Amino acid sequence: MMNFRGKTEKPEPSIEPDDKPKPKTIKPTYNWKLISLIFISWIALFHLFERTIPYHVISKCSWGDWEPWTSGSSERIVMIADPQIVDDYSYPKQYKVLNFFIKKIADNYLHRNYEMIHSALNPNTTIFLGDLFDGGRYWDDDQWMEEYYRFEKVFPKKSGKLDIRSIPGNHDIGFQTIHEHVLNRFVRHYGKANEVMELGNHTFVLLDAISLSHPNETIHKEADAFLTNLTFENDNPRILLIHVPLFRFPDKQLCGPHREKKDRLFPLQRGDQYQTVIEYEITKRILNTVQPALIFAGDDHDYCDIQQEYEGGKGVAREITVKSAAMTGGIKYPAVQLLSLNTNNNNKPDRNLFC
Ligand SMILES: *[C@@H]1O[C@H](CO)[C@@H](O)[C@H](O)[C@H]1NC(C)=O
Ligand SMILES: *[C@@H]1O[C@H](CO)[C@@H](O)[C@H](O)[C@H]1NC(C)=O
Ligand SMILES: *[C@@H]1O[C@H](CO)[C@@H](O)[C@H](O)[C@H]1NC(C)=O
Ligand SMILES: *[C@@H]1O[C@H](CO)[C@@H](O)[C@H](O)[C@H]1NC(C)=O
Repeated sequence: MMNFRGKTEKPEPSIEPDDKPKPKTIKPTYNWKLISLIFISWIALFHLFERTIPYHVISKCSWGDWEPWTSGSSERIVMIADPQIVDDYSYPKQYKVLNFFIKKIADNYLHRNYEMIHSALNPNTTIFLGDLFDGGRYWDDDQWMEEYYRFEKVFPKKSGKLDIRSIPGNHDIGFQTIHEHVLNRFVRHYGKANEVMELGNHTFVLLDAISLSHPNETIHKEADAFLTNLTFENDNPRILLIHVPLFRFPDKQLCGPHREKKDRLFPLQRGDQYQTVIEYEITKRILNTVQPALIFAGDDHDYCDIQQEYEGGKGVAREITVKSAAMTGGIKYPAVQLLSLNTNNNNKPDRNLFC
């Protein structure tokens, strides 16, 4: 987990009004020296807070400094959860002008960190964990395409690098109400929502557990058939990627020290187009079928690190909900998750998470 710590608001130079009456005869003179100084200071401060500090913070997570192995080629992955780019759905009661500026500032924050992660850390693969949009499930095709292009501008694909954006979130497709058209639109543009792929001698399983949870057969049939027919060609450790976290008993499976909201247990809630965890029975089916070593989810916006047992305790997976990367995600320190995969000296696949 990597926090973008150090981000503060840039101070505006303020000029105190002078309330003493002025003699009328004096022509206004400009203190050009002072004005230049303020201007230069502002640029320097801008550069410090927008470039130097973020770069410094991100560079602290250089892979070589925390990867426990010294040989082999590592598959270095950055995971981005819930960017949920601000749109007209986000703050419907706000003035349009204000919304415009919030959008610009929030987009800039995401774009700047994304670019810096790529220039400072140069990961092999970028994985998005869903909720790319905020109101995506509600947009008609024209508006959706506009948001799609905006998203591509905030997170431009890097040539020669693998980039996975195909896991849908509830803000992208809905939860209780999923329209076939909205789901198909997402899949058409981002790729198959249920898939198996090999990366760094680990097997990744991408699963659209939201559609799987839907009662309508038209909606759940693909994820359902995917799980039913899922087979593995090797014994590589498996990593499951989903949007909504799996079911847990929050009072027994505590989130650990990296969670910001420490005073509350992980919520088990359901509301309009969301559910904080996947149902118990569906969770059991997913765990027993995939039998993963690691699980990454998004949705919650805060960090949570728990153990999940499956097959009656025969296997254990570590499930991590990744923090939201957005400054509008309701947490103090937005973050991304780094994951490095390798084959260790005993020729067993190995992995490490933290920096
Ligand atoms: C990941 O990227 C690094 C740096 O670009 C490269 O040296 C390495 O071979 C890549 N790893 C894999 C598994 O492709
Ligand atoms: C299931 O979804 C399809 C496509 O959206 C729709 O045509 C159908 O009426 C739905 N079935 C039920 C039982 O709601
Ligand atoms: C996958 O499983 C479904 C049952 O859920 C079955 O109807 C379908 O034929 C299977 N597909 C393949 C390619 O095996
Ligand atoms: C994956 O494992 C095989 C042996 O099982 C090894 O030959 C290969 O180099 C490994 N790949 C990486 C990227 O470490």
